[in-house]
Amino acid sequence: MKGVVLAGGLGSRLKPLTKVTNKHLLPVYNQPMIYYPIQTLINAGIDDIMIVTGGNSAGDFLKLLGNGKDFGLKHINYTYQEGEGGIADALSLVEHFADDKAICVVLGDNIIEGNIRQAKKDYENQDTGAKILLKKIHDPQRFGVPELDGEKVLQIEEKPDNPKSDFAVIGIYFYDSTVFDIIKTLKPSGRGELEITDVNNHYINRGEMTWNKLDGWWTDAGTFESLLHATNLVAKTGANKLEVKNANAAD
Ligand code: G1P
Repeated sequence: MKGVVLAGGLGSRLKPLTKVTNKHLLPVYNQPMIYYPIQTLINAGIDDIMIVTGGNSAGDFLKLLGNGKDFGLKHINYTYQEGEGGIADALSLVEHFADDKAICVVLGDNIIEGNIRQAKKDYENQDTGAKILLKKIHDPQRFGVPELDGEKVLQIEEKPDNPKSDFAVIGIYFYDSTVFDIIKTLKPSGRGELEITDVNNHYINRGEMTWNKLDGWWTDAGTFESLLHATNLVAKTGANKLEVKNANAAD
C-alpha cells in the first residue's frame, strides 16, 4: 500500500505563524509537524510515500526531508497543490502516484500516540471501498462527526453544530482507487473547498465504508489551541516514534 501525506494549504488559522512558512513545518515539541504523519505511515509498514505540499515555503520540505534518510527511506515523492482547494483537491493530485492501488492518506497536522497497523491489516482484508478511523472526543463540533447505528456509519457531518455522536473522524483514511472518480464529482463546500467528508459520504452511500476505533491519543495541530495541546501531549507522553527502520532503509 502506498501512503500520502497532505501538507498543503495556507494554514490561515495559524496566522501569523504561517505568514512565511507552511503549517506542517512548524515545531511540535522536538520535531517539525510533518515528521509525525510520516512516522505514522512508516510504522504501519508503508514506505512508498507522496508528500502533497503547497502554499508558502514548499521548497523547504525538500530541504528538511530530502529523500527521507532520517526515516530510513531511500526516496520520497513530492507534488505541489496550487491555492487552497481543500483536502480532497489535494488528494486528486496523487492519482498517477496511486496507480490504481489502495492508498493510506494522512493529514499533515494529525498526530497519534499509537499506530494504525491493525486498521491497515483490516483494510487489506476488505476487497474494495474505504476505511475511516474514529476517536471519542469532547469537542466533536470541530471535526467530521459520524452518525452511527451500532457498527454501521450512516453519514458524516462536517463540523456540525449539533453532533450526532461524540466521535471525530480523524485525518487518516484508507481508499481504493475509485476515490479519484469520486473527487471528480465533488462541488466546493461553503468554505470553498472540496471536502474529504463528501468523499467519505460517497463511500457510505455505496455501502463501502468501514471504520476502526483508534487506540491512544489523537490530536490535530491546526489551531493555536490544538498546536499547544499537541506540543504538550508529545512532550509529556511522546508520540508515535519511529519504530523500525523499514526494509528499504538506507545504510
Ligand atoms: C479536516 C476534515 C475533518 C477531520 C479533520 C481531522 O478538518 O475536514 O473531517 O475531522 O480534518 O483533523 P480541517 O482540519 O480541514 O478543518
